[in-house]
Amino acid sequence: MRLSVIGCGYLGAVHAAAMASIGHEVVGIDVDERKIASLSNGEAPFFEPGLQEILSDGLASGRLRFSTDMADAAGAAVHFIGVGTPQQKDGYAADLTYVNAAVDALIPHLAEGDIVAGKSTVPVGTAATLAERVTPTGATLVWNPEFLREGWAVQDTVDPDRLVAGVPAGPEGERAADILREVYHPSVAKNTPFIITDLATAELVKVAANAFLATKISFINAMAEIAEVTGADVTTLADAIGHDARIGRRFLGAGIGFGGGCLPKDIRAFSARAEELGRGESVAFLREVDAINMRRRDRAVDLVVSAFGGSVFKKNITVLGAAFKPHSDDTRDSPALDVAVRLHGLGAWVTVTDPEAIENARRIHPQLNYVEDRDEALRAADAVIVVTEWDEYRRELDPAHAATLTAGRLIVDGRNCLDADAWRAAGWDYRGMGRP
Ligand code: UDX
Repeated sequence: MRLSVIGCGYLGAVHAAAMASIGHEVVGIDVDERKIASLSNGEAPFFEPGLQEILSDGLASGRLRFSTDMADAAGAAVHFIGVGTPQQKDGYAADLTYVNAAVDALIPHLAEGDIVAGKSTVPVGTAATLAERVTPTGATLVWNPEFLREGWAVQDTVDPDRLVAGVPAGPEGERAADILREVYHPSVAKNTPFIITDLATAELVKVAANAFLATKISFINAMAEIAEVTGADVTTLADAIGHDARIGRRFLGAGIGFGGGCLPKDIRAFSARAEELGRGESVAFLREVDAINMRRRDRAVDLVVSAFGGSVFKKNITVLGAAFKPHSDDTRDSPALDVAVRLHGLGAWVTVTDPEAIENARRIHPQLNYVEDRDEALRAADAVIVVTEWDEYRRELDPAHAATLTAGRLIVDGRNCLDADAWRAAGWDYRGMGRP
């Protein structure tokens, strides 16, 4: 099938390359000339495991190309909208500027029977508004949210755990659903659940999923706060409640909390939308989820500061991690970088290292000192704090070896990802989050 993907960021670029990898003929379109030039040259504009390979293969096969010209979308059977919906600068609501601009630019190139499939995360009700603009062209607007996780984006796109599509009622919607089944033929062939629903439900599924995940993380972080005043261990607690299949152990990792381009902005946009709908109280708990999450960053900073008797002024602190999570170079709303910036603000000499995210981090926070080599970054540190659980720190950093590099022996485990006993045995003062 011929497909177009409008927006070539984290979502769109992966979607375009993944669709080409399953046999479709795809054009990716973006207004950013540098991004399109880089993608056309076969260079992934960001770090995402597996993307480079499917990008190169797609270009080599001739099935994948990129363009800045919206006219190149003409002739595609399905047009995916994968542009960003960031948090508004002066509030919590989602900024729909890019979605609206993409749809407006696409409309002149649509033909009767085309499918416009929204993928971006939008406030519920957006799709219905867009449908009013798309319908007069004879095209059908559907909503097909994306659940990909950064770091696993290629796998999540090629082999998702479920597919969801909101379609209009009646034969037009049935036809659209059939076309989407053709698009996602490998998943359909292996009986991946494919939920066909209405537009509002499809939009809500996405925000509800992210709200649930954020709540799960803040729940365990709230337990970490209680553990901190009672001497309990939140990681053992998470193991124990996680054995209950109704609860499950995943997303019960207590630490410095969630960040990134999705969860924080999505729960805020959801709250803002619920208030517009007169149902603010229904999701009032999300404000608390957000507040708990932000408090964990304070707690990580406090752990370092209190270990030094109340001041980190002129202390050398090495921050291991900058990305909001491992296997990503994304530093958008990164709790890791936030902790580094706060320590710097308190007068510490902060050195940050990360296997992939230094370039992005430096762009946003040039005031910090960045060192690529992990061991070099550890040299002469008075304290070390792990804020992104990369294997390079979690598995591959030997505490005895680290001790030969640093000046001090304080290790703060902001992700509860280290073997506390091993670090203590090597002479370190180990402090975790919600752990005695
Ligand atoms: C998330 C959703 O998982 C995905 O389905 C959606 O499409 C987009 O948003 P992503 O932002 O890539 O994906 O990252 P995710 O793996 O969900 O992690 C989000 C944040 O939560 C990270 O900062 C991570 O470190 C943190 N986290 C995750 C925890 O603090 N504890 C956990 O147990 C799990």
